[in-house]
Amino acid sequence: MALKSINPTKTNAWLELKKHFEEIKNIHLKDLFNDDKKRQEKFSINFNDFFIDFSKNRITQKTVNQLIELANEVELKDAISKYFSGNKINKTENRAVLHTALRTQKNEPILVDNTDILPEIKQALSKIETFSNQVISGNWKGHTGEKITDIVNVGIGGSDLGPSMVVDALKYYKNHLNVHFVSNIDGDHVHETLKKLHPETTLFVIVSKTFTTQETITNATTIRKWFLNSANENAVKKHFIAVSTNLSAVTDFGIEESNIFPMWNWVGGRFSLWSPVGLSISLAVGFKNFKELLIGASEMDEHFKNAPFEKNIPVILGLLGIWYTNFFNSETEVILPYSQYLNKLSAYLQQANMESNGKSVDRNGAKVNYQTGNVIWGSAGTNSQHAYMQLIHQGTKLIPADFIGFEESLYGEKEHHDKLMANFYGQIQALAKGKTKEEVHLDLKFQGKINDIETLLPFKVFEGNKPTNTILIKKLTPRNLGSLIAAYEHKIFVQGIIWNIFSFDQFGVELGKEMAHKIYSKK
Ligand code: F6P
Repeated sequence: MALKSINPTKTNAWLELKKHFEEIKNIHLKDLFNDDKKRQEKFSINFNDFFIDFSKNRITQKTVNQLIELANEVELKDAISKYFSGNKINKTENRAVLHTALRTQKNEPILVDNTDILPEIKQALSKIETFSNQVISGNWKGHTGEKITDIVNVGIGGSDLGPSMVVDALKYYKNHLNVHFVSNIDGDHVHETLKKLHPETTLFVIVSKTFTTQETITNATTIRKWFLNSANENAVKKHFIAVSTNLSAVTDFGIEESNIFPMWNWVGGRFSLWSPVGLSISLAVGFKNFKELLIGASEMDEHFKNAPFEKNIPVILGLLGIWYTNFFNSETEVILPYSQYLNKLSAYLQQANMESNGKSVDRNGAKVNYQTGNVIWGSAGTNSQHAYMQLIHQGTKLIPADFIGFEESLYGEKEHHDKLMANFYGQIQALAKGKTKEEVHLDLKFQGKINDIETLLPFKVFEGNKPTNTILIKKLTPRNLGSLIAAYEHKIFVQGIIWNIFSFDQFGVELGKEMAHKIYSKK
């Protein structure tokens, strides 16, 4: 069954939220905290190793209730059940959306076109496990009998961003294999990578769901040529692996059938790191850690399916995003992980989010007259503080921020970690509270700058009242990372349902590609 089509702006909850916005828009977070000492207790969620504090948002209990009412009126619960059970909710491509099946820890059949897909998922996982073990242990030999030392993932978009983000995020858990990523069609990218490598000890994993993507096929062809400078055709099977749905294109390219890992059209590229697209993750950190990543994601899936909306992490994060986008008219969201390991998280979420919800036609095929998908950006704190935090604190735009931090660091450098987390909380506090004229006045006086007060004062005031979510996680483990990524995936789903758009196609990327083909073919 297809998703229902309900215009969110025609719901009762939307009208109520509009009225409520008028009551709340000028209330300061400081006052909200003064008025309700139990605010943090009320507006927070505990889940496994996670503590989500959403109390520093410009909301009251009434806001949360009305946002949940909105979710109920657009029948979010019904949509979630269709999403998990394999309904063809990607209607414009006539496909189910089942990245969640890739990580399920249950044995209940999941049907696509009346066929249970669990057996083929298990088979693929076992192929990933066997292959990763062989390469890591050195039992898989290159064509000259040498062990593999380097892996190159060749792919773009979802066939690159997810694996490369996770390999970076789990660097601490990595084995001896060096994993590289080639994505850009810019030939300098591939050559910069190849110049460090020896063909006899390198394994190339060509990842392309369609196996028609210009960037990937061009890079793979260049790599193959480079490889064949020092080896013969027969050696290709020891060094080239593919992940794809397009078997004939892969074999035409010259890759052995036994070296092909499957992909399925019920997995969207940007949600595919849980599939064999994540092979480079399993090679980098071992299958056990890859499995932990899947378990963490499946735990978040269960939470999303079962937790009541007011204590449901993806639902609350999604609804807060709607509140700022559609009522406060904010246009961007910043993701700030206070961990260097997660430096690529925002770039990954940028694709996941913007390719999914960057739509302006609703599920009836009509142009929407309200805002949808946000601009997602960010990078690791504390570096961000020395780059763009100025604008978030004192600029003219309202930019809701997600702060992601860990209670423990991985190397246990206590002094560093204490300073890192002091900055994490310092920023959150500064954004919420700000600094009043009176406080600035006192400060300047205290510093003996009495004569400068008049000229400097307006520039040193911080209005505060800037919303943040605090996502505090015990430790960066594969399992917790899996849960974190899944939470954001489901947030995207929640928002797509509320905005009444189709989140799982990406026709918007096609026109530019077509033009590029035309321009190139005239050369
Ligand atoms: O940019 C469009 C897109 O289709 C993404 O959705 C996808 O992740 C990427 O291209 C790569 O596609 P493929 O895996 O088919 O090469």
